[in-house]
Amino acid sequence: MALTGAGISAESGIPTFRGAGGMWKRLRPEDLATPEAFTRDPKLVWEWYLWRRGLIARAEPNPGHYALARLEQRAPRFHLVTQNVDGLHERAGSRKILKLHGDIWEVRCTGCGLERRDERLAFDEMPPRCACGGLLRPAVVWFGEMLPADVWQRAERAVAETELLLVVGTSAVVYPAAGLVPLARRSGARIIEVNLDETPYSASVDCSLRGKAGELLPKLIP
Ligand code: APR
Repeated sequence: MALTGAGISAESGIPTFRGAGGMWKRLRPEDLATPEAFTRDPKLVWEWYLWRRGLIARAEPNPGHYALARLEQRAPRFHLVTQNVDGLHERAGSRKILKLHGDIWEVRCTGCGLERRDERLAFDEMPPRCACGGLLRPAVVWFGEMLPADVWQRAERAVAETELLLVVGTSAVVYPAAGLVPLARRSGARIIEVNLDETPYSASVDCSLRGKAGELLPKLIP
């Protein structure tokens, strides 16, 4: 299994949230990535997501994404669990992906609940509305929201059964996603971490590789 975070997309030009250059250095998560922020100012929240969509649309998967897609080809029982919403794993060829935090390219109507793919980089009205008149929101998981139950259950089950967990490019401070690492340890899995910096789990994993995912993963998975 692999659990990925924003760090695997950093070399594709997508800023991470924390650490050096992270978005939360100049933007406040509570102003942009919470249901309250959306209720308070849906236009501001959508401006941030459209900015991110624009960045992601111009980005390409990097060798780290492609290495994990190769791993899926070679290991039939491999599962990729990601916290990322950027869709770069799919674009690199990964198919068995559990998206814990949703997908920036999907929207959900806050009125009728309709959820669908929407790849627009701009809307003719802001904030965008559903045909039913309800406000559309990004179909991503915001702070304080539950993860999709079926996705979470499948991720927990996969972690409980895996022999090896690759933890790549995550600061491992946002739960419940970060809880998959100690869960893997309790299940007896070997854990390899790939990260530029230390994380709360670096000292307790079997092997903590310090470096860029785009450089190290192709060495691990040639
Ligand atoms: N290669 C490997 N690791 C990297 C690289 C790189 N090129 N660049 C940065 N990193 C590491 C950083 O050291 C950091 O540990 O990636 C991690 C990025 O951490 P965060 O920005 O906190 O991203 P993530 O862990 O995915 O955040 C979890 O928090 O903001 C919410 O919902 C959002 O899914 C996100 C969640």
